[in-house]
Amino acid sequence: MLQSKHILIGVTGGIAAYKICTLIRDFKKSGAEVKIIATPNALNFVTKLTLQNLSQNEVYVEEFDVKNWKPEHISLADWADIMLIAPATANTISKIAQGIADNLLTSVACAFSKKIIMAPAMNCNMWQNETIKDNIKILQKRGIEILEPENGFLACGYMGKGRLCSSDKIFNAIEEALNYSQMLKGQKIVITAGGTIEEIDPVRYISNYSSGKMGLALAKSAYDMGADVVFITTKDFDVPFKKVMVKSAQDMQNAVNDEFDSSNYIIMAAAVADYRVKEHSEQKIKKGEQDSITLEFVKNPDILAELCNRKLFNCSETNKNEILRFAQNDVQAEESHDVKSACNDKPVIVGFCAESENLLENAKAKIAKKGCDFLVANDISRKDIGFGVNDNEVTILNKNGDILKLDKAPKNIIARKILECINMK
Ligand SMILES: Cc1cc2nc3c(=O)[nH]c(=O)nc-3n(C[C@H](O)[C@H](O)[C@H](O)COP(=O)(O)O)c2cc1C
Repeated sequence: MLQSKHILIGVTGGIAAYKICTLIRDFKKSGAEVKIIATPNALNFVTKLTLQNLSQNEVYVEEFDVKNWKPEHISLADWADIMLIAPATANTISKIAQGIADNLLTSVACAFSKKIIMAPAMNCNMWQNETIKDNIKILQKRGIEILEPENGFLACGYMGKGRLCSSDKIFNAIEEALNYSQMLKGQKIVITAGGTIEEIDPVRYISNYSSGKMGLALAKSAYDMGADVVFITTKDFDVPFKKVMVKSAQDMQNAVNDEFDSSNYIIMAAAVADYRVKEHSEQKIKKGEQDSITLEFVKNPDILAELCNRKLFNCSETNKNEILRFAQNDVQAEESHDVKSACNDKPVIVGFCAESENLLENAKAKIAKKGCDFLVANDISRKDIGFGVNDNEVTILNKNGDILKLDKAPKNIIARKILECINMK
């Protein structure tokens, strides 16, 4: 199951470090490639030579032992499909939770954008320490999976919770996480992000507050889950998948249309301007004598609705009559939803809506009107979620009327849950 998977194991200075030796063997036996980063303190408990022999790879300890142009904390993070930190000491847990990167292991963890699993092991009083408890919560909130320690006799002589969980449990968690990372293998996902930029003249434009962070989180998660991602964005992010930079709603529509036929999913997370200026000036508009000026706006294309209609027309023959009736406006609004639902062909289309009031009511009306397969509704009246910030809280509606509310969480966690949800359609 782990054939050719790249597992990066961080070993820290806890007494349970010796238990990792058998785990490394198990991973190797299952066909995985294993690389080890040990903290300098870990080498008090297990030797570099042992780790090196078992992993059949060099063991990385020193951050400034730089051999290549790309420093180790970046190249190891790029190499790995997953990172396991086991045993994780109270010290390393707390440093990673607080963003401290003062050795190779903590620096790699800081630079790691894929899945991290941690298996803490420590004295039971350390595990009960309020600071450690808070730091564990911070890590969990960021999507790091914590395999809690078990109860039992501890090496320090105490009885209590603190013993490293079983090797089987760690192995299974890694296997499950790596399988999850294949969930969208072979699927092409187009994701839009950011607010569109509607130019007034060469130096001025109108736009909106969308930061593109939700779209970026979706694109990164889809990539981690094995998808072939096309990221169509107005904001310039560094990403390891295909990125198409666009400005206006019209540019964005063209870019999405180019990808339509070969896509399995289209997720419209961008905030597309409803209107653009009617007369775009080729020259900078000069300040005149008048106290006010008027700009006239015209409607932008409704990208989501047009995508849904295009999909409708690509539907199978059996729905043809219904589709024609729909095209001739011969169906009532509520019926049009049923007609659109009859069409199950690809791509699955996911819309986003930002509402400042009556979230659910407006979202229900929007999904019925547009005919998309899923609609993700955001409440933008709240300052702690949505536009510009790192957290979100959304409600997902599907075309059958099912509703799923996702509690407030960082956008990367929300992104994963959205992708899981639309993939289980
Ligand atoms: C014998 C001995 C055993 C230790 N076992 C643990 C342990 O199981 N868990 C833990 O969190 N710290 C343990 N410590 C303390 C850590 O080694 C210490 O906090 C160290 O700074 C951790 O460094 P690192 O996180 O960079 O590896 C132990 C220390 C000693 C001397």
